[in-house]
This record gives sequence, structure tokens and C-alpha cells, in this order.
Amino acid sequence: MIIRSVDFAGSLVQPGAPFPGTLPQIALSGRSNVGKSSLINTLLGRTRKREARVSARPGKTRALNFFEVNGAFFLVDLPGYGYAEVPDEVRDSWMRMVTWYLASGGPAAVVQLIDSRHDPTEADESRLELLADVGVPTVVALTKVDKLRGARRRYLTERACARLSIDEEQVICFSSRTGEGRSELLEAVAALSL
Ligand code: GTP
Ligand code: MG
Repeated sequence: MIIRSVDFAGSLVQPGAPFPGTLPQIALSGRSNVGKSSLINTLLGRTRKREARVSARPGKTRALNFFEVNGAFFLVDLPGYGYAEVPDEVRDSWMRMVTWYLASGGPAAVVQLIDSRHDPTEADESRLELLADVGVPTVVALTKVDKLRGARRRYLTERACARLSIDEEQVICFSSRTGEGRSELLEAVAALSL
């Protein structure tokens, strides 16, 4: 897939708010700081103009942000879960918003991000369960694989797949630093959104 255009299409900040259009939606789900916004930047190949706001501090994405790609589909950047440094009410309101969205019939597919350096958390597992419950097709991407080498990478990848009960061929190893997995993920996204 060649990216010809990317336009910020709008944000949702409240459950039940209307979507910014009728194109298929592909959402990025995962814990805070796992690399969702960075992945969007990398997929879209924008290095000068940062489309999705990326931060070194967790909790940066505070709304559901829609990016229209090639006039053909939306990539939706979601706030992450598991970030402790915001007040409970704020975290709860993000969680309500995202849970509503995932079950709303909006997303045609979800890319679930898991940090390759650590075992999947209980929150990761319950998010995958929620996605299975609502029946949204889901691709799993293991992020930040540039931080792992050789045997350790193989070991952690196998463990993550075993823990999540998914086939290794169904996960995409991804790095926003090196671009590894970019074309594989773009193809998966294209296949799911058409
Ligand atoms: P929230 O918006 O808080 O949910 O976080 P997020 O999932 O959008 O994470 P974000 O993309 O903002 O990245 C968080 C941090 O991880 C930043 O410091 C990024 O530079 C770093 N990061 C993201 N992707 C990679 C990667 O592939 N490799 C490495 N080494 N660092 C990464
Ligand atoms: Mg973000």
C-alpha cells in the first residue's frame, strides 16, 4: 500500500459521539506507552510532520483521534490503559470511552499492541478477551523489537504467543525505530479494511 494522503479527521471525547465519517476504521489498542502513536507515525511514513502526537511521557493520547488515510480508511489512535499517573476519574473516563468505542460497531479491525520486552499483562489479556467478545478482527503487533536481539527475542516472542494462545505466524514484530514490520502491518491493515 502506498500512502498518498493523511488528514486528521477529528477526535471523539465522549461515548456516543458521531464518527467523523463512514470510511472503515482500524483502531490501535494497547497499554499506555506501548507505542500506538509511534506506530501510526511509522506506518504513515511521516517523519517531518508528526501526524499522531507521540510523547516520551505516557498518557499522551487523551481522545480517540481519527486519521483519514488515502481517503479510504481511518486509523484511530486510542488512549492507552494501565497508566497510573492520572487521577482515577480520568483513567476511568478513558476506559469507558474506549470500551464503548470497541463495542460500538465502529472499528472494522483492531491492531492490538503488546510490548515485546515484557510478558503480556492481565490488562492486555482482558483487552484481547473484550475484542474477541465483541467479534472485531484483531491483529497482534509486538512493539519495540529493536530493543531485543537473537535468543532473547525468540524466547520472549514464543512466551508472549503461548500466554496469549496465538500462533506465532499471526503476530507481527514491529519497530517504529527501524521500520521493521511496517509493510507487513500495512498489508494486514489494508486486507482488513477493504
Ligand atoms: P499513550 O498515548 O500514552 O497511550 O502511549 P502510546 O502507546 O501512544 O506510546 P507512544 O507512541 O507515545 O510511545 C511511547 C514511548 O515509547 C516514546 O518514548 C516512544 O519514543 C517509544 N517508542 C515507541 N515505539 C518504539 C519502538 O519501536 N522502539 C523503541 N525503542 N521505542 C519506541
Ligand atoms: Mg498515544
